[in-house]
Amino acid sequence: MSTLTPDLDSLLGTRRDGHGMPRAFYHGDALYQRELERIWYGGWLFAGFAFEIPNPGDFITFTIDATPVLVMRDDSRAVRAFHNVCRHRGTLLCRAESGHVRAIVCPYHSWTYSRQGDLVACHGMHDGVDKSKLGLRALHTEVCAGLIYVSLGQTPPAFTPLREAFKPAALPQGFDRAKIAKVIDYGVEANWKLVWENNRECYHCTRCHPQYVKANFDVYDEGSASEAIRTAMATAVARTQLKWAAQGIAITHQRGGLAPFPDPDRGFWYAADRTVLVDGWETESMDGRRVAPLMGDYLDADVGVLRMRSMPNFWVHASCDHAVAARLLPAGPRTTIVRAYWLVHEDAREGDDYSLDKLLPFWNLTNEQDWEICKWQQKGVDSIGYEPGPLSQHKEYNVDAFIRWYLQQMQARESGGARAPLTRVAWL
Ligand code: FES
Ligand SMILES: [Fe+2]
Repeated sequence: MSTLTPDLDSLLGTRRDGHGMPRAFYHGDALYQRELERIWYGGWLFAGFAFEIPNPGDFITFTIDATPVLVMRDDSRAVRAFHNVCRHRGTLLCRAESGHVRAIVCPYHSWTYSRQGDLVACHGMHDGVDKSKLGLRALHTEVCAGLIYVSLGQTPPAFTPLREAFKPAALPQGFDRAKIAKVIDYGVEANWKLVWENNRECYHCTRCHPQYVKANFDVYDEGSASEAIRTAMATAVARTQLKWAAQGIAITHQRGGLAPFPDPDRGFWYAADRTVLVDGWETESMDGRRVAPLMGDYLDADVGVLRMRSMPNFWVHASCDHAVAARLLPAGPRTTIVRAYWLVHEDAREGDDYSLDKLLPFWNLTNEQDWEICKWQQKGVDSIGYEPGPLSQHKEYNVDAFIRWYLQQMQARESGGARAPLTRVAWL
């Protein structure tokens, strides 16, 4: 039996196939709370990079809506995650975004936890407190090719399929031998779903991202790629195939348009693929020239762009010399905090090997252009005058896929945890 309230239950059925979602999906608090429970507190969330916490006691923190999480390297060098909340009276424990501790001491009454999360001291309590039952509440944690994932769910989805997809794709990029050149936190004034919908199509790219379309073939869907464009893509694909097939880093998405993702019909909430860059572009920089030393195992620049993503909060575009990742966190029905990470090889030195004024603009511009669009779209979909229009089968197939994935997650517990099948879109 459905656990949704009747209103939410019926709301989920109001989306018309082949169209965007109605107004009520983008600002309602009740629906937002349900999204937190079913998607954000149930699935796997990208938390950060393992190299951010190289030593025992190093930690990072992040917050999903109002739920703070602590990710820490323990004494055995394993990565662990906990609710960042004291077991005494609930005070927030680690307040910095990152740091190093010998032990975690609550700032309120000094209850003290080890780096394994065990309660080791609760000074002054003479009440027969069983410390063994009051360790920090542990969260599921996985590390894959240098990426840390955390789940707040009791029984999160199997992580192995993501690992099997990401590990071979990500290892040559060297996310485990990288460092952060720059982090920017963007406060996007839009519902997190609008941020994803924007990310899942390049229909807007010609108008909104003049620099992006010079480097990538994303705008050329099957219906609009000219013979010259097809030939250019095929030539680049053949070249990388010849060079890199043995290393497993040849181009995998060999056509124009975005690779299909997510795939709710096959249960794919994660994906990794490699795309070609336009001839003359070695990397996603403003002029296409390299902006940092090669990353990972790459022997030359001709490796296209590795793209990886996982629902509901991660994507990365990784060129030969740098990678730009995004971590989404909801902060209310109309606010999404997007952290963008610019990564370079761990040995690269700012000033000598790279400069931020060359490294940042391509994706900082693209990001700011997108967040601006999302902000104005939010203002429009908030209006009683908004009615969802049709999605393009050729250009917005991934927006449709995202919406179907979302509805599937929201309806997932309708039949005892089994995912209710959804009708594939009927294009009108
Ligand atoms: S709330 Fe943490 S020690 Fe009291
Ligand atoms: Fe965009």
